Order: sequence, then structure tokens, then C-alpha cells
Amino acid sequence: MRAAVLYEQGKPPVIERVEVADPKQGEVLVRMVASGVCHSDLHVINGHLPANLPVVMGHEGAGVVERVGPGVTSVQPGDHVVLLWRAPCNRCYFCGIGKSYLCPVAGQIRWTGCLADGTSRFSAGGRTLKHFGGVSTFSEYTVVMENAALPVRKDVPLDRVALVGCGVMTGVGAVFNTAKVEPGSRVAIWGAGGVGLNVVQACAMVSADRIIVVDILDNKLEMARQFGATHTVNARDTDPVQAVRDLTDGYGADYTFEVIGNPRTIAQAYEAARPGGTAVVVGASPVGETVSIEAASLVLQEKRLIGSLYGSTRPRVDMPRLLDLYVDGKLKLDELITRRYRLDQLNEAFAAMERGEVARSVVVYD
Ligand code: APR
Ligand code: ZN
Repeated sequence: MRAAVLYEQGKPPVIERVEVADPKQGEVLVRMVASGVCHSDLHVINGHLPANLPVVMGHEGAGVVERVGPGVTSVQPGDHVVLLWRAPCNRCYFCGIGKSYLCPVAGQIRWTGCLADGTSRFSAGGRTLKHFGGVSTFSEYTVVMENAALPVRKDVPLDRVALVGCGVMTGVGAVFNTAKVEPGSRVAIWGAGGVGLNVVQACAMVSADRIIVVDILDNKLEMARQFGATHTVNARDTDPVQAVRDLTDGYGADYTFEVIGNPRTIAQAYEAARPGGTAVVVGASPVGETVSIEAASLVLQEKRLIGSLYGSTRPRVDMPRLLDLYVDGKLKLDELITRRYRLDQLNEAFAAMERGEVARSVVVYD
């Protein structure tokens, strides 16, 4: 079988033949059907985020369970599954309080690139390869921990399901779960990409009043309007902080969202939140970089700057719910998929994302 392997940061992943071993205790083998092309993979390829190398890339995917290892009880062959790049261990404190995306076992899988027993199921030419986020979705087959494969309804096409595994959950969850935006709120969103458009549509779903979207590309701003933006600002020719203030009686927005991963735009989103308002950071900035905000404003204006990881997801509750909303015509997924690519075109898909041509691309396997 074939997979996309990153050998060196700063160089494109290589699509090549890879061996995948049988699933061990508590693991499942998944035949991938679709994998979304998310900016977080590009952050790793560019070296902005770390990963243990060499690694089979991809973290936004869905497929069909092919085989299960010993002791697996929650899924069976034939199940349609969405893959979770932060899977709950269901034993730790964080899983206990409903914040499994902070689970240290999941974190260890992300940072080591090994499954829970500390080993890997992938190899190429006798060399061991790591698992990205414990899921490695840019691969015709993948082995994941049982808890990383969440069964979903079978009437939703798996390319749509794949998007829920990262971008849709991350964007919608930032609004529903992290910020808990109230109806009538005025919101501003920086970045109308594959994740940001989901922040936009979630704000529209909870009846935010003003939905101001900031981007540097007019085609992205046009997409944002299709997803519910009421106002758009091109930050190339307009100061976005001033523009948001002008649209909110001079106060700033109740909630702002940064969905790019850039300390400069995080500072802008913070400045554009009103006194007592909340700026929510969804974009992952390069590790080690710092944000500069006026310290006194935290107190004198009681402003809040908070992070949102994976949409503060409770996967078993939220992901089936998002698919129900899609089937009921309330959540846009079809409109997110601008292009479909084969695995051997993956690097073209990354280039198209970098050029800002797509809302989301999806790699489909036959
Ligand atoms: N100001 C405004 N918009 C910007 C700027 C800027 N300075 N720089 C980039 N953008 C816009 C791009 O034009 C694009 O529309 O941000 C958007 C980013 O979208 P994508 O490349 O599709 O990235 P996406 O997959 O949505 O991820 C965004 O969220 O989960 C994180 O790791 C992910 O940090 C990444 C962020
Ligand atoms: Zn992602």
C-alpha cells in the first residue's frame, strides 16, 4: 500500500510504498476512503510545528474498519469511522472532566509518533515510520488505537465525514463549546480557510448578529459570505482592527476568533475584542513564538484571551451531532470541498492551499 511520508521538514512528503503491520491489542486497521488537506500538516512540513520523523502524514480522515486487533469491542469490520487526532484514553483526569483533547496519553502519541504501547505499525524499506497524531490519514491503510476510530452513521459520504475529523469540529467547536457564543453577539473572524469558514457558519447557526470576516484574499471573503459572513474586510487594504470597531459602535466585537496561526493576527483579534470581550485563538502559531498584547487591558478592560484546541471536542457527543446537522441541512459540508485529489497529487493540494485557491481539498482513495 502507499502513503505520504515526511522524511525531512522543509521538504515535501514522499508518496511511496509502505508496509503496515497487523493491529495489536486494542488497535484497528482502517481502510482510508478520504483525507482532508489541513493547514496543520503544512505547519509540520514547513517546520513550524514539530513531529518525530520520518512520519506518515495526515490527520483529518475517515474510512472503513477492515480488521480489529484482540480485545477491541467498540468497533467492528465494516464500520464507518471518523479518525480522532486526539483520542481519549478514557482513564485520565482530563478524559474524566470531558476535555479528552487535553489527554496526556493522546499528547504522548502526538509527540512521540508511536501508538500507546510505544511502537509503530508502519515501515518502509526496513525503516520504522511514525504515526502522525496517532492516525496518519494520508495512507491507503492505517492502524489506530480503538478509541481513535469513532463509528459514525453510514449515510454520510466519507469525504464529508473526514472533514468533521478536524476542520469542521475545530471551527464549529470553537464557537459552540469553547466560546459559547450567545445569539445576537457581534463576532469577528480572522482567516476564512478550511477551519475559519466553519467558525463563520457556526456563528451564523447560533444567530450571531454581525459576523465580520477578515482575510487577505477576496476569493476567501466571497466564500465567507456564502457561509454567513455579514461583513468582510480585506486586511491588505484596510486596518482590520479599526474596521471591526467601526462596525461595532466603536466598542469592538463580543467575540473574536483567530483562525490563521500568526502572533500578529492574534494581537489584532485581541485588540478588536470589546471591553469584557473574548478573543479565541484557534490557529496554531509556530512553537516558541510569543504574542504581544497590552497587559493593562486584561484588567482595566477585563478582556479575555483564550485558546481552543480541537474545538474543545467531546467526540462521542459532538461528531455524530455535526453529521446529524449536515443530514438535516443545517451544516454545510459539501460546499467546503473545493477539489478532490489522488494521493499522488498531495503536494499539488498543499500548493493550492498555500496559494489560497481552495476552501478545503480532499484526498480520495479508490
Ligand atoms: N490576515 C488575514 N487573513 C490571513 C492572513 C492575515 N495576515 N494570513 C493568512 N490569512 C488567511 C488565508 O488567506 C486563508 O484564507 O488565513 C486563511 C488560512 O486558511 P487555510 O490555509 O485554509 O488554513 P486552515 O486549514 O483553515 O487552518 C488555519 O487553524 O487549526 C489551525 O493549524 C491550523 O493554524 C492553522 C489554522
Ligand atoms: Zn487539522
